[in-house]
Amino acid sequence: MSKENTPITVAKGDGIGPEIMDATLAILKAAGARLDIEEVEIGEKVYERGVKNGIEKAAWDSIRKTRVFLKAPIFTPSGKGFKSLNVTVRKTLGLYANVRPCTSFHPFIETNHANMDVVIVRENEEDLYAGIEYRQTQTVCEAMKLISRPGSEKIIRYAFEYARANNRKKVTCMIKDNIMKMADGLFYQVFQEIGEEYPDIEQERYIIDIGTARIAAKPEEFDVIVTENLYGDIISDVAAEITGSVGLGISANIGAECAMFEAMHGTAPDIAGEGIANPSGLLLGSIMMLVHIGQNDIASKVHNAWLKTIEDGIHTGDIYREGVSKKRVGTAEFCAAVIERIGKKPETLTVQDYGDGKAGGLTLPPVRDFKAQKKELVGCDIYLDWTGNPEKLGDMTKKIGSNNFNLEMISNRGMKVWPDGAEETFCGDHWRLRYMAKTKMLHSHILDLVDQLIAQDLDVIKIENLYTFDGENGFTQAQGQ
Ligand code: NAI
Repeated sequence: MSKENTPITVAKGDGIGPEIMDATLAILKAAGARLDIEEVEIGEKVYERGVKNGIEKAAWDSIRKTRVFLKAPIFTPSGKGFKSLNVTVRKTLGLYANVRPCTSFHPFIETNHANMDVVIVRENEEDLYAGIEYRQTQTVCEAMKLISRPGSEKIIRYAFEYARANNRKKVTCMIKDNIMKMADGLFYQVFQEIGEEYPDIEQERYIIDIGTARIAAKPEEFDVIVTENLYGDIISDVAAEITGSVGLGISANIGAECAMFEAMHGTAPDIAGEGIANPSGLLLGSIMMLVHIGQNDIASKVHNAWLKTIEDGIHTGDIYREGVSKKRVGTAEFCAAVIERIGKKPETLTVQDYGDGKAGGLTLPPVRDFKAQKKELVGCDIYLDWTGNPEKLGDMTKKIGSNNFNLEMISNRGMKVWPDGAEETFCGDHWRLRYMAKTKMLHSHILDLVDQLIAQDLDVIKIENLYTFDGENGFTQAQGQ
């Protein structure tokens, strides 16, 4: 247990941010948290100064020095040119694990799910959040989904290690590998491989759609859930909502070097400045931070005082229910009630005991070596912006490049439309020509092919090489192929 003061970086954020941060820090101070606080400015005022990602060098320097960041919500300007500060911080600092505990506090906070205690471990850096998007034709935009083996391994191992360290029994993997056979297939394959090292933990798999429905209907069946970035974003909001209040949701962002702790909710502009916001999400986030820096004694003290306050029915407006709550309070009064209860424990809700901890959070082994497979170029998909019917495009392109290639098929938005397409299939202006190599293929063959297509006045918008790995296709077939 760390008895030294720990330096941390704090940002009070926008909207209700300063109100809930002041309340949180007052409670931590009253509980005896050993912190040296460095405050930095991020968010709205920094965006207004023309900084496109809302964070300046002084803030980066502080976070890099303390490696622990307690952050209130910040306003993200909409409109082109501005970058989400949250995504920037997560990706720049390699905060690959987003841990979101969602617990119900029945019967003190109204919920249909009395025994819900789910932790969602969401991959934080990859997937559609790579932010790589293109408008390729008049009518079609593309967003690129990237899933990597090391990225999947890190988050999946984190989920298993988290389960072990927190005495949890089951890890559920949620994916959509019936549709995204390669990307989500890889994530699930890595889950199975890493899972073999954790025979003490029950493992299960859900397709994300039915999995989400199941979380909404029977959240008590889940323990730890590990999933990709977008699915995790959605299911953690669903899970937080059904605990009774999004105001209670927590988000811890963990990397090998740094960690950031925050509430799940936003700046709540509709109630900013009114002194009625619930500081609980940020406070619960700060408890995860205390455990991360090895101040488990203070974490237990603060958590139990908070549980006792909730149990005593002292509730902010977002969780206040006639008949269940005893007193409706604002932020400052709620904060005072928690401080008054430091040293007390809940009587009905489970007492929290974080035991002894060491600073720095979970320590994970390095990513395993992966034996490179034999990679061979076997063809290419060439994308066109074109308007017309499939037969005409087939006639125009089947002879092109025929020294080196066979035109195997043409698809439109993923559906095969040539040869032998269905008349009913709708065709937009986004076409894919799949050329397979006749013999050993060189990159220069693709360039020749593209030259010939351009010479026919065809608008080539993208080229995707087709590879095999140890003889296995590294690309999917078209629908209907
Ligand atoms: P929001 O979470 O701020 O508000 C949604 C609803 O929940 C509002 O009715 C609000 O009053 C209520 N609410 C949220 N937190 C509460 C609390 N602690 N106590 C009581 N009621 C609470 O979501 P919204 O309106 O979509 O976003 C507002 C701004 O926040 C946007 O600029 C968005 O970009 C930003 N945002 C920032 C996040 C962050 O910094 N981590 C996360 C989510 C949104």
